[in-house]
Amino acid sequence: MKILGIETSCDETGVCLIETKETKEGVILTILGNQLYSQVEKHKEFGGVFPMLAKREHAKNLVPLLEACLKESNLWTPFHTLDKAGWHSDDKVIEEKIKEILFREGELFNELITLLKTIKKPDIEAIAVTNGPGLEPALWVGVVFAKALNQAWNIPLIPTNHMEGHIFAATLQKLETETSNPESKQNSKSYILNPIKHPAVALLISGGHTQLVLIKDNLNYEIIGNTKDDAVGEAYDKVARMMNLPYPGGKIISDLATKEQAEFPNKKTTYPLPRPMIRSGDLNFSFSGLKTAVLYTLKKIPVITDEIKQEIALEFERAVLEVLTSKVSQAIEEYNPQTLIIGGGVSANSKIRTSLEKICQKYNITFLVPEVSASTDNALMIAVAGFVNILAGKIANTDFKANGNLSL
Ligand code: KG4
Ligand code: ZN
Repeated sequence: MKILGIETSCDETGVCLIETKETKEGVILTILGNQLYSQVEKHKEFGGVFPMLAKREHAKNLVPLLEACLKESNLWTPFHTLDKAGWHSDDKVIEEKIKEILFREGELFNELITLLKTIKKPDIEAIAVTNGPGLEPALWVGVVFAKALNQAWNIPLIPTNHMEGHIFAATLQKLETETSNPESKQNSKSYILNPIKHPAVALLISGGHTQLVLIKDNLNYEIIGNTKDDAVGEAYDKVARMMNLPYPGGKIISDLATKEQAEFPNKKTTYPLPRPMIRSGDLNFSFSGLKTAVLYTLKKIPVITDEIKQEIALEFERAVLEVLTSKVSQAIEEYNPQTLIIGGGVSANSKIRTSLEKICQKYNITFLVPEVSASTDNALMIAVAGFVNILAGKIANTDFKANGNLSL
C-alpha cells in the first residue's frame, strides 16, 4: 500500500511517500520519497516559531516538495490527454471545488493546478495529513492542501494526530541490506515495523509537548502525565535565547553541556538549579520554574562568559535529565509496561536516550526510540501513523478540521 504523508504542524514542511508490504516477518515499510523543508533559518530572527510566517512558508513549499517527492518516488508521470485515469485539464467542476478549498491561498491554488494538469494521478492509496496538535494556521494549510489533493485525485484522506506520529516513528527498525558488492553497502530505506507490546508507556518530549502516555492497547491512549506550563523543548529554546544562543536551542545547549562535562567531570556546579516537581508524587512536569531560575541566575552575573554559559547548560540539562528519568521510572513502577517509547524533537538528545535505555535495561522492558532524523518533525511519521490507523480500520473522511489542541 502506498501512503502519502503531509506534515505542517510547526516549522517543518514535510511530504513523504511510503510503501508498505505485509510479509510473514511483519510489515516491511519502504520510503519511496521523503522531502523535508526546515524553516528554522526563517524563524531564527524571532527567537522562536512565528505562526503566520510558518503558514506562509508551508503554502510556498508544499507544491515543490510534493513534486520532488513524486519524482523521487518515480511516480511523476506526465499527463496525456487521452488518459482517462488522470486529471482532466478541462474538468472545470473539480477545478472550482479545489478553488473553494484553497480560497484563501491563491498562490498555492495556482501552483497546485499547474502540477495537477502536468501529471497523471499517482498510484497512491491514501493521504495521511497532520490535523493537530500544533500551530493552527500552519496545520490549516496542510489540511486544505490534502483536501485539495483528495478532490483532484479521489484518494482517501486519513487525518492524523501529530503525537501519534511521534509514537510510531519509534516503531521503525531499519533493515540492513547487503548488496553483492560489499563496497556499496547501501543505506537502506526499508524498515520493519516493530509491533508495540502493550501496555506501553510513551514519553513525548518536543517544543510543544511534555507528556507521559499510557498505551493500553493498539491506538488506545491515556495521558498519565503532562506539563503544567512550558514544554521541555521550549525550556531548552528559551534558556538558549537568554544566553544569546540561536534558535532552536536544544542541540546547542546539549552540546555545551557535553563539553562542560568532558572538561570538568567532577566539578560541583557554581549555579545550582531546581528539579521542578521531581517529588510531586504524580507524573506531571513543570519547566517554567527551571527556565525562570536560569533567568535569575543570569541576572546576578555581571559578565556572562562562554565558560559560564557552558556551566549553566550542564546544570540545566542535568535538571531536565533527573526530572525526566525520575518520572519515567515512576510511570514504569505504577503501570508495569512491557515497552517504553520516546518521541519528539527532544528525544534526539543522546543523554536522554542513554539514560532511558539504562532504565529499560533495569526494568527489563523493550525500549523503542526513533532514528535521530525521525525524532524531530517529519512527514514519514505521519505516513506511518496513517498506515497503522488504516490497518486498524479507521475510516477515511474529509469532514475534519485542523485542531491546534487535538489530544491523543
Ligand atoms: O518535535 P519537534 O521537532 O517539534 C515540535 O513538535 O515541537 O521538537 C523541536 C524541539 C525544539 O525545542 C528543539 O530545541 C528540541 O526539540 N531539540 C532538542 C534536541 N534536538 C532538538 N532538545 C534537546 N536536545 C536535542 N539534541
Ligand atoms: Zn513534533
